[in-house]
Amino acid sequence: MDKINLGQCILAPMAGITGFPFRKTALKYGAGFSFTEMISAIGFLHNDRGTLELLETGNDIDKTGIQLFGSDPDILAQAAKKAADKGFKVIDVNMGCPVKKVVKTGAGSAILKDIKGFSLIAGSVRSALKDSMLTIKIRSGFDENSVNFLEIGKIAESSGIDAVFFHPRTRSLMFGGAADHSLTKRLKNEIAIPVYASGDIFTVDDAVTIKDYTGVDGIMFARGAIGKPWVFADYLNAQSFDEKNNRMHLDINQKIDIIIELMEEISLFYGRERGHNLVRPHLYNFLKGFKGSKGSRCMVNNARTEKEILEILNILRTTDDEYIWLD
Ligand SMILES: Cc1cc2nc3c(=O)[nH]c(=O)nc-3n(C[C@H](O)[C@H](O)[C@H](O)COP(=O)(O)O)c2cc1C
Repeated sequence: MDKINLGQCILAPMAGITGFPFRKTALKYGAGFSFTEMISAIGFLHNDRGTLELLETGNDIDKTGIQLFGSDPDILAQAAKKAADKGFKVIDVNMGCPVKKVVKTGAGSAILKDIKGFSLIAGSVRSALKDSMLTIKIRSGFDENSVNFLEIGKIAESSGIDAVFFHPRTRSLMFGGAADHSLTKRLKNEIAIPVYASGDIFTVDDAVTIKDYTGVDGIMFARGAIGKPWVFADYLNAQSFDEKNNRMHLDINQKIDIIIELMEEISLFYGRERGHNLVRPHLYNFLKGFKGSKGSRCMVNNARTEKEILEILNILRTTDDEYIWLD
Protein backbone atom coordinates (compact mmCIF):
# COMPACT_ATOMS: atom_id res chain seq x y z
CA MET A 1 0.00 0.00 0.00
CA ASP A 2 1.16 3.51 -0.77
CA LYS A 3 2.03 5.65 2.18
CA ILE A 4 -0.50 8.28 3.15
CA ASN A 5 0.58 11.80 2.33
CA LEU A 6 0.35 13.70 5.59
CA GLY A 7 0.58 17.06 3.87
CA GLN A 8 2.51 20.13 4.94
CA CYS A 9 0.53 21.01 8.03
CA ILE A 10 -1.19 18.72 10.47
CA LEU A 11 -3.60 19.19 13.35
CA ALA A 12 -1.72 17.88 16.41
CA PRO A 13 -3.40 15.53 18.87
CA MET A 14 -4.86 17.47 21.79
CA ALA A 15 -6.80 15.82 24.61
CA GLY A 16 -10.19 17.44 25.08
CA ILE A 17 -9.81 19.47 21.87
CA THR A 18 -9.30 17.29 18.80
CA GLY A 19 -12.60 15.46 18.79
CA PHE A 20 -14.40 14.81 15.54
CA PRO A 21 -15.98 18.29 15.10
CA PHE A 22 -12.68 20.15 15.40
CA ARG A 23 -10.80 17.66 13.22
CA LYS A 24 -13.50 17.91 10.57
CA THR A 25 -13.34 21.71 10.59
CA ALA A 26 -9.52 21.81 10.52
CA LEU A 27 -9.43 19.36 7.60
CA LYS A 28 -11.99 21.44 5.75
CA TYR A 29 -9.84 24.54 6.22
CA GLY A 30 -6.54 23.17 5.01
CA ALA A 31 -5.10 20.69 7.50
CA GLY A 32 -3.45 17.91 5.52
CA PHE A 33 -3.99 15.41 8.27
CA SER A 34 -5.28 15.21 11.83
CA PHE A 35 -5.00 13.05 14.91
CA THR A 36 -7.39 11.85 17.57
CA GLU A 37 -6.42 12.77 21.07
CA MET A 38 -4.37 10.13 22.89
CA ILE A 39 -6.39 7.00 23.50
CA SER A 40 -5.48 4.36 26.06
CA ALA A 41 -4.41 1.20 24.23
CA ILE A 42 -5.87 -0.97 26.94
CA GLY A 43 -9.11 1.02 27.08
CA PHE A 44 -9.42 0.69 23.32
CA LEU A 45 -8.92 -3.08 23.50
CA HIS A 46 -11.61 -3.29 26.18
CA ASN A 47 -14.00 -1.08 24.21
CA ASP A 48 -14.16 1.34 27.12
CA ARG A 49 -17.07 3.73 27.18
CA GLY A 50 -15.98 7.01 25.66
CA THR A 51 -13.36 5.53 23.36
CA LEU A 52 -15.89 5.09 20.56
CA GLU A 53 -16.68 8.79 20.61
CA LEU A 54 -12.97 9.69 20.41
CA LEU A 55 -12.60 7.44 17.36
CA GLU A 56 -15.32 9.04 15.23
CA THR A 57 -13.92 10.11 11.87
CA GLY A 58 -17.00 10.62 9.68
CA ASN A 59 -15.77 10.58 6.09
CA ASP A 60 -12.25 11.54 7.12
CA ILE A 61 -10.70 8.20 8.07
CA ASP A 62 -7.99 8.58 5.41
CA LYS A 63 -7.00 11.89 6.95
CA THR A 64 -7.19 10.88 10.58
CA GLY A 65 -4.56 9.08 12.59
CA ILE A 66 -5.29 7.37 15.87
CA GLN A 67 -2.91 8.18 18.70
CA LEU A 68 -2.46 5.40 21.25
CA PHE A 69 -0.81 5.55 24.62
CA GLY A 70 0.40 2.72 26.77
CA SER A 71 3.61 1.09 27.93
CA ASP A 72 3.24 -2.61 27.23
CA PRO A 73 4.61 -3.56 23.78
CA ASP A 74 2.10 -6.40 23.31
CA ILE A 75 -0.91 -4.36 24.33
CA LEU A 76 0.17 -1.46 22.12
CA ALA A 77 0.70 -3.90 19.25
CA GLN A 78 -2.75 -5.47 19.70
CA ALA A 79 -4.39 -2.06 19.92
CA ALA A 80 -2.54 -0.86 16.81
CA LYS A 81 -3.67 -3.94 14.91
CA LYS A 82 -7.26 -3.40 16.03
CA ALA A 83 -7.06 0.25 14.88
CA ALA A 84 -5.69 -0.84 11.50
CA ASP A 85 -8.49 -3.39 11.19
CA LYS A 86 -10.97 -0.58 11.82
CA GLY A 87 -9.49 1.28 8.84
CA PHE A 88 -6.96 3.67 10.41
CA LYS A 89 -4.03 4.02 8.03
CA VAL A 90 -1.81 5.96 10.40
CA ILE A 91 -1.18 4.81 13.95
CA ASP A 92 0.81 7.03 16.27
CA VAL A 93 2.24 6.09 19.65
CA ASN A 94 2.36 8.88 22.21
CA MET A 95 5.83 9.23 23.71
CA GLY A 96 5.56 12.82 24.82
CA CYS A 97 2.72 13.16 27.31
CA PRO A 98 4.21 14.76 30.44
CA VAL A 99 1.21 14.23 32.73
CA LYS A 100 2.09 12.44 35.99
CA LYS A 101 -0.86 10.04 35.87
CA VAL A 102 0.35 8.79 32.45
CA VAL A 103 4.10 8.88 33.13
CA LYS A 104 3.82 6.84 36.31
CA THR A 105 2.35 3.96 34.28
CA GLY A 106 5.45 3.99 32.06
CA ALA A 107 3.53 5.53 29.14
CA GLY A 108 3.86 8.89 27.34
CA SER A 109 7.22 10.57 27.83
CA ALA A 110 8.31 7.84 30.30
CA ILE A 111 9.00 5.65 27.24
CA LEU A 112 11.88 8.01 26.37
CA LYS A 113 13.64 7.06 29.62
CA ASP A 114 13.93 3.44 28.62
CA ILE A 115 15.66 2.89 25.28
CA LYS A 116 15.27 -0.87 25.48
CA GLY A 117 11.55 -0.55 26.19
CA PHE A 118 11.26 1.95 23.36
CA SER A 119 12.91 -0.49 20.92
CA LEU A 120 10.58 -3.27 22.04
CA ILE A 121 7.51 -1.10 21.52
CA ALA A 122 8.72 0.08 18.11
CA GLY A 123 9.49 -3.48 17.01
CA SER A 124 6.35 -5.12 18.28
CA VAL A 125 3.93 -2.46 17.05
CA ARG A 126 5.66 -2.38 13.67
CA SER A 127 5.40 -6.11 13.21
CA ALA A 128 1.71 -6.11 14.20
CA LEU A 129 0.95 -3.72 11.34
CA LYS A 130 1.05 -4.72 7.71
CA ASP A 131 0.15 -1.73 5.61
CA SER A 132 -0.66 1.02 8.09
CA MET A 133 1.89 3.70 8.79
CA LEU A 134 3.41 3.80 12.25
CA THR A 135 4.50 7.15 13.65
CA ILE A 136 5.71 8.35 17.04
CA LYS A 137 5.31 11.67 18.80
CA ILE A 138 8.22 12.42 21.08
CA ARG A 139 9.79 15.11 23.21
CA SER A 140 13.53 15.80 23.26
CA GLY A 141 14.07 13.59 26.29
CA PHE A 142 12.75 12.94 29.76
CA ASP A 143 14.78 15.59 31.51
CA GLU A 144 17.82 17.76 30.89
CA ASN A 145 20.13 14.89 31.85
CA SER A 146 18.62 12.51 29.33
CA VAL A 147 18.16 14.43 26.10
CA ASN A 148 18.14 11.43 23.78
CA PHE A 149 15.95 12.36 20.82
CA LEU A 150 18.75 11.58 18.31
CA GLU A 151 19.18 8.07 19.63
CA ILE A 152 15.40 7.57 19.68
CA GLY A 153 15.13 8.96 16.15
CA LYS A 154 17.81 6.63 14.82
CA ILE A 155 16.22 3.56 16.42
CA ALA A 156 12.86 4.70 15.05
CA GLU A 157 14.34 4.87 11.59
CA SER A 158 15.89 1.42 11.79
CA SER A 159 12.68 -0.03 13.29
CA GLY A 160 10.61 0.95 10.27
CA ILE A 161 8.75 3.85 11.85
CA ASP A 162 7.36 6.07 9.11
CA ALA A 163 7.60 9.54 10.65
CA VAL A 164 8.49 11.36 13.85
CA PHE A 165 6.48 14.24 15.30
CA PHE A 166 8.89 16.20 17.43
CA HIS A 167 8.17 18.59 20.30
CA PRO A 168 11.61 19.88 21.33
CA ARG A 169 11.07 20.23 25.05
CA THR A 170 11.93 17.70 27.72
CA ARG A 171 9.23 16.19 29.86
CA SER A 172 10.49 18.15 32.87
CA LEU A 173 9.92 21.40 31.02
CA MET A 174 6.23 20.47 30.51
CA PHE A 175 5.16 23.54 28.51
CA GLY A 176 7.68 25.93 30.12
CA GLY A 177 10.45 27.80 28.37
CA ALA A 178 10.59 27.92 24.60
CA ALA A 179 10.54 24.95 22.24
CA ASP A 180 14.15 24.64 20.99
CA HIS A 181 13.83 24.08 17.27
CA SER A 182 17.60 23.92 16.82
CA LEU A 183 17.05 20.36 18.10
CA THR A 184 14.39 19.81 15.45
CA LYS A 185 16.88 20.87 12.81
CA ARG A 186 19.42 18.40 14.19
CA LEU A 187 16.92 15.56 14.18
CA LYS A 188 15.88 16.37 10.62
CA ASN A 189 19.54 16.36 9.55
CA GLU A 190 20.36 13.09 11.28
CA ILE A 191 17.55 10.80 10.17
CA ALA A 192 16.10 10.00 6.77
CA ILE A 193 12.47 9.40 7.76
CA PRO A 194 10.11 12.40 7.73
CA VAL A 195 10.26 14.74 10.72
CA TYR A 196 7.43 17.11 11.63
CA ALA A 197 7.90 20.07 13.97
CA SER A 198 5.59 20.67 16.92
CA GLY A 199 5.95 23.30 19.62
CA ASP A 200 5.24 27.01 19.86
CA ILE A 201 3.86 27.22 16.35
CA PHE A 202 1.16 29.75 17.14
CA THR A 203 0.94 31.75 13.94
CA VAL A 204 1.55 31.33 10.22
CA ASP A 205 4.73 33.37 10.60
CA ASP A 206 5.98 30.99 13.32
CA ALA A 207 5.22 28.06 11.02
CA VAL A 208 7.00 29.56 8.01
CA THR A 209 10.03 30.53 10.11
CA ILE A 210 10.32 27.10 11.78
CA LYS A 211 9.79 25.21 8.53
CA ASP A 212 12.45 27.29 6.75
CA TYR A 213 14.91 27.09 9.63
CA THR A 214 14.62 23.37 10.35
CA GLY A 215 13.94 21.99 6.86
CA VAL A 216 11.30 19.64 8.32
CA ASP A 217 8.82 17.79 6.14
CA GLY A 218 5.88 19.56 7.70
CA ILE A 219 4.61 21.30 10.79
CA MET A 220 1.94 20.61 13.38
CA PHE A 221 -0.38 23.27 14.72
CA ALA A 222 -1.61 22.56 18.24
CA ARG A 223 -2.54 25.49 20.51
CA GLY A 224 -2.20 27.79 17.50
CA ALA A 225 -5.17 26.11 15.84
CA ILE A 226 -7.56 26.34 18.79
CA GLY A 227 -10.23 28.85 17.78
CA LYS A 228 -8.42 29.44 14.49
CA PRO A 229 -9.08 26.45 12.23
CA TRP A 230 -8.30 28.53 9.14
CA VAL A 231 -4.65 28.75 10.20
CA PHE A 232 -3.88 25.70 8.00
CA ALA A 233 -5.24 27.25 4.81
CA ASP A 234 -3.52 30.50 5.69
CA TYR A 235 -0.21 28.64 6.09
CA LEU A 236 -0.62 26.75 2.80
CA ASN A 237 -1.29 30.05 1.15
CA ALA A 238 1.81 31.63 2.69
CA GLN A 239 3.88 28.61 1.56
CA SER A 240 2.80 28.98 -2.02
CA PHE A 241 4.26 32.48 -2.27
CA ASP A 242 7.89 33.49 -2.16
CA GLU A 243 7.11 36.47 -0.01
CA LYS A 244 5.89 35.40 3.38
CA ASN A 245 3.82 38.55 3.61
CA ASN A 246 1.40 37.29 0.99
CA ARG A 247 -1.24 36.12 3.38
CA MET A 248 -4.77 34.98 2.91
CA HIS A 249 -6.35 37.63 5.12
CA LEU A 250 -9.78 36.28 5.83
CA ASP A 251 -11.88 39.16 7.00
CA ILE A 252 -13.53 39.23 10.38
CA ASN A 253 -16.88 38.10 9.00
CA GLN A 254 -15.38 35.06 7.35
CA LYS A 255 -13.60 34.14 10.57
CA ILE A 256 -16.76 34.52 12.63
CA ASP A 257 -18.62 32.36 10.10
CA ILE A 258 -16.03 29.60 10.54
CA ILE A 259 -16.24 29.85 14.33
CA ILE A 260 -20.02 29.58 14.15
CA GLU A 261 -19.69 26.58 11.83
CA LEU A 262 -17.36 24.95 14.38
CA MET A 263 -19.80 25.73 17.20
CA GLU A 264 -22.58 24.07 15.24
CA GLU A 265 -20.47 20.98 14.53
CA ILE A 266 -19.59 20.74 18.22
CA SER A 267 -23.16 21.01 19.44
CA LEU A 268 -24.41 18.59 16.77
CA PHE A 269 -21.89 15.96 17.85
CA TYR A 270 -21.86 16.40 21.62
CA GLY A 271 -25.28 17.91 22.20
CA ARG A 272 -25.92 21.50 23.22
CA GLU A 273 -25.07 21.18 26.89
CA ARG A 274 -21.68 19.47 26.53
CA GLY A 275 -20.99 21.42 23.38
CA HIS A 276 -21.40 24.70 25.23
CA ASN A 277 -18.38 23.88 27.43
CA LEU A 278 -16.29 22.27 24.68
CA VAL A 279 -16.55 25.33 22.47
CA ARG A 280 -15.17 27.65 25.16
CA PRO A 281 -11.44 27.13 24.51
CA HIS A 282 -12.04 27.95 20.84
CA LEU A 283 -14.00 31.10 21.61
CA TYR A 284 -11.47 32.17 24.20
CA ASN A 285 -8.56 31.83 21.78
CA PHE A 286 -10.45 33.38 18.90
CA LEU A 287 -11.37 36.41 20.97
CA LYS A 288 -7.78 36.81 22.16
CA GLY A 289 -7.11 38.04 18.63
CA PHE A 290 -8.97 41.25 19.29
CA LYS A 291 -7.76 44.42 20.84
CA GLY A 292 -10.14 45.10 23.67
CA SER A 293 -11.07 41.43 23.84
CA LYS A 294 -11.17 41.25 27.62
CA GLY A 295 -14.75 42.45 27.69
CA SER A 296 -15.99 40.03 25.05
CA ARG A 297 -14.13 37.10 26.62
CA CYS A 298 -15.77 37.91 29.90
CA MET A 299 -19.16 38.14 28.17
CA VAL A 300 -18.59 34.73 26.55
CA ASN A 301 -17.62 33.25 29.90
CA ASN A 302 -20.87 34.47 31.35
CA ALA A 303 -22.99 33.48 28.37
CA ARG A 304 -25.30 30.64 29.24
CA THR A 305 -26.76 29.80 25.87
CA GLU A 306 -25.56 29.44 22.32
CA LYS A 307 -27.87 32.31 21.40
CA GLU A 308 -26.04 34.63 23.80
CA ILE A 309 -22.69 33.59 22.30
CA LEU A 310 -23.96 34.25 18.79
CA GLU A 311 -25.08 37.70 19.86
CA ILE A 312 -21.59 38.50 21.15
CA LEU A 313 -19.96 37.22 17.95
CA ASN A 314 -22.36 39.26 15.87
CA ILE A 315 -21.41 42.42 17.73
CA LEU A 316 -17.82 41.76 16.65
CA ARG A 317 -18.86 41.72 13.01
CA THR A 318 -19.18 45.47 13.15
CA THR A 319 -15.45 45.86 13.63
CA ASP A 320 -14.57 49.41 14.56
CA ASP A 321 -11.78 51.10 16.48
CA GLU A 322 -12.68 49.24 19.60
CA TYR A 323 -12.08 45.83 18.07
CA ILE A 324 -8.94 45.56 15.98
CA TRP A 325 -7.84 42.18 14.80
CA LEU A 326 -4.27 41.66 16.01
CA ASP A 327 -3.28 38.47 14.18
C1 LIG B 1 -4.74 20.85 25.65
C2 LIG B 1 -3.64 20.03 25.06
C3 LIG B 1 -3.79 18.66 24.93
C4 LIG B 1 -2.77 17.89 24.36
N1 LIG B 1 -2.96 16.56 24.19
C5 LIG B 1 -2.03 15.82 23.53
C6 LIG B 1 -2.29 14.46 23.21
O1 LIG B 1 -3.34 13.89 23.49
N2 LIG B 1 -1.28 13.78 22.56
C7 LIG B 1 -0.09 14.38 22.20
O2 LIG B 1 0.78 13.74 21.62
N3 LIG B 1 0.14 15.67 22.48
C8 LIG B 1 -0.80 16.41 23.11
N4 LIG B 1 -0.58 17.74 23.33
C9 LIG B 1 0.67 18.35 22.85
C10 LIG B 1 0.48 18.96 21.47
O3 LIG B 1 0.14 18.01 20.49
C11 LIG B 1 1.73 19.73 21.01
O4 LIG B 1 2.79 18.83 20.79
C12 LIG B 1 2.16 20.77 22.04
O5 LIG B 1 1.04 21.53 22.47
C13 LIG B 1 3.22 21.71 21.47
O6 LIG B 1 2.70 22.45 20.41
P1 LIG B 1 2.20 23.99 20.58
O7 LIG B 1 3.23 24.68 21.43
O8 LIG B 1 2.18 24.51 19.15
O9 LIG B 1 0.89 23.97 21.25
C14 LIG B 1 -1.57 18.51 23.92
C15 LIG B 1 -1.42 19.88 24.08
C16 LIG B 1 -2.43 20.64 24.62
C17 LIG B 1 -2.25 22.13 24.74
